[in-house]
Amino acid sequence: MVERRFPRYKDLAPLMNFKTPDFNAKRRRLAGALTIQDLQKIAQRRTPKAAFDYTEGAAEAEISLRRARQAFEDIQFNPGILRDVSTVNTGWDVLGAPVALPFGIAPTGFTRMMQTEGELAGSAAAGAAGIPFSLSTMGTTSIEAVKAANPDGRNWFQLYMWNDRDRSMALVERAAAAGFDTLLVTVDVPVAGARLRDKRNGFSIPPQLTIGTVLNALPRPEWWINFLTTEPLAFASLSRMSGTVGELLDTMFDPTVTFEDLAWIKAQWPGKLVVKGVQSLADARTLADMGIDGITLSNHGGRQLDRAPIPFHLLPEVAREVGGDMEIHLDTGIMSGADIVASIALGARFTMVGRAYLYGLMAGGREGVDRTIAILGEQVARTMKLLGVASLEELNPSHVIQLERLVPRAIAPAQVAAASAAVSRPSVGRSAARSARKPPAATVAVEVADPAVAALAVSATQTPTSTPKRAPAKRKPAAPKVVAAPKA
Ligand SMILES: Cc1cc2nc3c(=O)[nH]c(=O)nc-3n(C[C@H](O)[C@H](O)[C@H](O)COP(=O)(O)O)c2cc1C
Repeated sequence: MVERRFPRYKDLAPLMNFKTPDFNAKRRRLAGALTIQDLQKIAQRRTPKAAFDYTEGAAEAEISLRRARQAFEDIQFNPGILRDVSTVNTGWDVLGAPVALPFGIAPTGFTRMMQTEGELAGSAAAGAAGIPFSLSTMGTTSIEAVKAANPDGRNWFQLYMWNDRDRSMALVERAAAAGFDTLLVTVDVPVAGARLRDKRNGFSIPPQLTIGTVLNALPRPEWWINFLTTEPLAFASLSRMSGTVGELLDTMFDPTVTFEDLAWIKAQWPGKLVVKGVQSLADARTLADMGIDGITLSNHGGRQLDRAPIPFHLLPEVAREVGGDMEIHLDTGIMSGADIVASIALGARFTMVGRAYLYGLMAGGREGVDRTIAILGEQVARTMKLLGVASLEELNPSHVIQLERLVPRAIAPAQVAAASAAVSRPSVGRSAARSARKPPAATVAVEVADPAVAALAVSATQTPTSTPKRAPAKRKPAAPKVVAAPKA
């Protein structure tokens, strides 16, 4: 039987330690956001539909983006235990200079339309956090203003090669003169992807007022006040602007750009050069042979080719094959620090976030971007500690298994044999012949030398939810961290 008594003041007093309310609405709002998804919800409430959809949306049926996010959801982490993780080092060198965290801000166009502080907020927040900021060719703040907002930090310039090459290269010269240390050459936009949300919203530059936009504006007065009382939206680097976003992009991009043009750009840029938008091992190899400093495995946040390769799935093989020759960076779909840690473990040197940054910006300008970086940074550090690693160098492929929901459709062993036979390498032919005679499924997967055929073989032997054993990567040995003997 429980004995009851009257509550005493001395027991109640410690429970009545009420927090003083924060009367700063923005601070309260941002402090309540614990994840990037929380910032995304705040952003949606505060931004007109057309601008929010422009940020949130992807191309066609938005399958590329959904799959990229699903690939990150399908991570299994393998932690180590009993390591000293009282302090973790979340930084290392990227392209020859230090970063405090293994991610940076990806280049995004039209940024001041999402929130009036735009690139100034992004670059200042990045500089304060010790991570790189990338300014897009389609940015809405000038190269020099970004430099002034982030004078001591790392600024990268993203180049779209467009029809007027002299003007493209004039931008590159300005970026070099302003001390930008890295040029990102984006190569996945020969034409604009079909952003259907923008078409449906009648989204144009500058935004057009219709009855719909006015009604949508009513609950979002701050955005409109900002929009109407600050410098009109304009491209800081380009002068021509009118029409829908797709029309605008299509008149500007040069679909004739080739590897030769890239070599020509490289010869003129004094700093590091990263090619953004690489989506195959073959192209990665060609770029490594050209002496490019780094590549970004990316499908442009799903905004270009729909049903494109999933960058996170490409990563292990690309890192294993060419990671020794150049840095491998990755973006598309990153929404948490755990996604970043998994990418580093599988061989990425660096990652970039586009929407995660823009959600923070739309949720609260500069402080919102600070919040994005803080959330991701805390998640990176916590995930590392929970994995039992104290530095990025200790992360290796043994920490992550990519569970595969998106495996190719299972096919009959006979088809595997036929595919193997089509490949002219003798060893492949032999193993295919063996597998045709007797289909010991596991053996087929191990013996086939050609990666494409091996993929078929694996798919023929697995249920879609099974977890394949991954070959150990050459790049970083999977040796456990050497742990100091416990103190007596
Ligand atoms: C609103 C928006 C605008 C973008 N503009 C550019 C751009 O001008 N140049 C570029 O190379 N990439 C651009 N990107 C792609 C990003 O640099 C990055 O590849 C992508 O956002 C990564 O995916 P995530 O948004 O899921 O992080 C843009 C992305 C978004 C969301």
